[in-house]
Amino acid sequence: MLDAGAGTGLVGEILHQNGYSNLEGMDISPEMLEEARKKNVYTALYQKVMGEPLGFPSDSFDAIVSVGVFTYGHAPSSSFDELIRITKPGGYIIFTMRLDFYENSDFKQKLTALEESGKWKLSEVGYRFSPLSTAKPDGYYRIWVYRVS
Ligand SMILES: C[S@@+](CC[C@H](N)C(=O)[O-])C[C@H]1O[C@@H](n2cnc3c(N)ncnc32)[C@H](O)[C@@H]1O
Repeated sequence: MLDAGAGTGLVGEILHQNGYSNLEGMDISPEMLEEARKKNVYTALYQKVMGEPLGFPSDSFDAIVSVGVFTYGHAPSSSFDELIRITKPGGYIIFTMRLDFYENSDFKQKLTALEESGKWKLSEVGYRFSPLSTAKPDGYYRIWVYRVS
């Protein structure tokens, strides 16, 4: 599994605690990757920029998880073209997104266009949740799960 936008490795740590041992991570930031490395849960870490060619062979990963990365000023919707390419057919791409961002960015159109062109199929959308108890009314998220074709 690939943790895309691994940051300090929080998601990797939780996945590892839940039995995922074949876990790789990537992030745009060398400083973040240095923190992630200290968690000792990734078999490999890469400095890569989502939205640019990632350099992994096609069909590399069983699943990709990306938490908190598709948001204002972070990875663009075009990132999904490469994420789909490097996921094995039948594999999953799982990510969080803030609902106001989903509505007000080009992500909604991109996710739909990828489904219409047969690149992936929506498998599940999680319920609305707020990661912060102090969240503003627009600070809600969902988890999207797509199955790559
Ligand atoms: C809010 S943090 C989330 C980190 C981690 N996934 C977590 O949940 O703790 C967002 C991460 O995305 C990374 N990031 C932002 N834009 C990126 C891009 N275009 N390509 C790769 N990583 C990116 C940032 O460096 C940062 O580590």
